[in-house]
Amino acid sequence: MTQPATADTLPGIPGREATADGPATDVVGRTLPHYPVPPARSSHGPARIVAMCNQKGGVGKTTTTINLGAALAEYGRRVLLVDFDPQGAASVGVGVSPHELDLSVYNLVMDRGVDIGDVVRTTAIEGLDVVPANIDLSAAEVQLVGEVARESVLSRALRPALDDYDVILVDCQPSLGLLTVNALTAAHGVLIPLECEFFALRGVALLVETIDKVRDRLNPDLEVDGILPTMYDSRTLHSREVVARVHEAFGDRLLHTVIGRTVKFPDASVAAEPITAYAPTHAGAAAYRHLARELVGRGSIA
Ligand SMILES: Nc1ncnc2c1ncn2[C@@H]1O[C@H](COP(=O)(O)OP(=O)(O)O)[C@@H](O)[C@H]1O
Ligand SMILES: [Mg+2]
Repeated sequence: MTQPATADTLPGIPGREATADGPATDVVGRTLPHYPVPPARSSHGPARIVAMCNQKGGVGKTTTTINLGAALAEYGRRVLLVDFDPQGAASVGVGVSPHELDLSVYNLVMDRGVDIGDVVRTTAIEGLDVVPANIDLSAAEVQLVGEVARESVLSRALRPALDDYDVILVDCQPSLGLLTVNALTAAHGVLIPLECEFFALRGVALLVETIDKVRDRLNPDLEVDGILPTMYDSRTLHSREVVARVHEAFGDRLLHTVIGRTVKFPDASVAAEPITAYAPTHAGAAAYRHLARELVGRGSIA
């Protein structure tokens, strides 16, 4: 951790920059550690599976899945995105059209004869692959109810890919139904994106309760890797208050990285590219690179 900050590793996130009077701090005033560029890996795997989870829609799950994945790929990690939302937004966001899919994550979880190699697609980003989804997946929620070990279908389906990737990011749908429980059962860690809005904390208690239940009954090693504030507006006191409340409630599970609100994210979605490719020098790209370095620095991702 002694590597000096360079243009590539300046925080670029909301908070206070280092001055003669003191070190850089995050938005709640904690000293911001310096997270260096992670060293290259000479081999890959076994992957850590991280579920992107919040039953509220529009909080930045898909945006975080795509851009964290792309930032980790830039740092030489082999990354698999698993689109586990019938909306298919993560697939579209990395350039896969949901209408022209022969096979999708639906087939991976429902058809015994289909395995992960049949459904993985490469993207335009080197090191970043995707298991795409489309509206077919909405049927799985109902069909899975009758399956044996219905909560661990995704876990079993992902197992053969573990050695090929360093990280597998599962983009969950906005619900706490059986698909999300499958993601939590497969996962080693959960990331919770949280919009910096007044009612953001509503529902997080229920989410944490669900995570605790899955840990008790299905996946004893499941960890909360962090809570990520998104759509932060530095001009309002309000955003800072929301993050302060999260810090009070969750302590150091609140990540240092905070994602600012910027129209570059929706713009990048329209272009079907991660922001790191669409606007590589923009603060939004820097923020997701910082998130990638923080997660490696905290030991959540190798
Ligand atoms: N930091 C941000 N600033 C501004 N807009 C954002 C930000 N993050 C996400 N968005 C936009 O908000 C909308 C919802 O984000 P998304 O990632 O799809 O949420 P979720 O997957 O939780 O439903 C999208 O249009 C996305 O482009
Ligand atoms: Mg989404």
